[in-house]
Amino acid sequence: MTKIGVLVGSLRKESFSKKIASNVVSLFPEGYETEFIEIGNLPLYNQDYDDENRVPKEYTAFRNKVKELDAVIFVTPEYNRSVPAVLSNALDVGSRPKTDNVWNGKPAAIISQSPGNLGGFGANHHLRQILTAVNMPVVQHPEVYIFNTPKLLDEEGKINNEGTIQFLQTFVDAFVGLIKRNLEYA
Ligand code: FNR
Repeated sequence: MTKIGVLVGSLRKESFSKKIASNVVSLFPEGYETEFIEIGNLPLYNQDYDDENRVPKEYTAFRNKVKELDAVIFVTPEYNRSVPAVLSNALDVGSRPKTDNVWNGKPAAIISQSPGNLGGFGANHHLRQILTAVNMPVVQHPEVYIFNTPKLLDEEGKINNEGTIQFLQTFVDAFVGLIKRNLEYA
């Protein structure tokens, strides 16, 4: 079984990002399992915590969880034209200590979403830059910027537009291709 971690860049109960992520996980083929990974409980990263006597227990649990994953999909809103702090924090926590970066080499995929018209473009590309720094190969094409998200979801949070579902399926297929190539060369 190939394990995919889902990291959502919003803690909001009714988060659109979470709803989009819930739609996307159903598009993975057989043999893939997905798990939403909690990031809201991680204390703000402090380099003093790299001291092995001071590591918060939440960091250890999170790092161990990510180590078990084969790949990670990020679904995020945009905050002030960038990546929400909660997601950036989780990436920092996983990247240290430097000799034990848990993201290293794991394939990744990015979906940004916004109720506005720009689809979280700024967050999407800032996140891409961070993933380069932590050495994750990222799906380059297609790029996914979901815009006007509330209009795309029905009352149960399901995507109501067949074209968007098909597009997301193409994206998931590209991600699965990247994961397979990565596992072949591992
Ligand atoms: C936002 N929002 C927002 N939207 C956007 O398209 N570009 C932006 O730069 C910002 N900036 C921003 C900053 C902060 C602090 C908040 C709280 C919100 C609006 C944001 O897209 C909207 O609240 C989404 O609903 C957030 O995603 P979730 O929580 O629904 O997943």
